[in-house]
Amino acid sequence: MYSEKVMDHFNNPRNVGEIEDASGVGTVGNAKCGDIMRIYLDIDENEIIRDVKFKTFGCGAAVATSSMATELVKGKNIKEALQVTNKAVMEALDGLPPVKVHCSLLAEEAIHAALWDYAEKKGIQIEGLEKPKSDVHEGEEEEEEEY
Ligand code: FES
Repeated sequence: MYSEKVMDHFNNPRNVGEIEDASGVGTVGNAKCGDIMRIYLDIDENEIIRDVKFKTFGCGAAVATSSMATELVKGKNIKEALQVTNKAVMEALDGLPPVKVHCSLLAEEAIHAALWDYAEKKGIQIEGLEKPKSDVHEGEEEEEEEY
């Protein structure tokens, strides 16, 4: 039911971890299942995403989509990173089963939330970026599987 790419990113997720003093951090929750995702961005002075890491308390599809999403935004500038939609991530993974499509939204939303955090810290506006809807605050997470 899962593509080889999904299984690969689930079994060997890329860019798992944290970035200390990240330029932007975004944490979002999936209203449908309660799973949580956090993305850390390290953005240089030319607005290029130098590094990205993620952590998720979520299902396998959330792990795989986050892993792929971090690969897709790494090295991009912030405008290009905004184009990394859940659809683009799913295409890069050769698709997801329909019941798992909502999982792919976490990565997109977490990237947007991290970009929003970066913009707020810098006092800038990023064209086309909307305020994240489902921000989750520190300490509200429920323990599940951690990657
Ligand atoms: Fe929650 Fe997949 S079931 S993110």
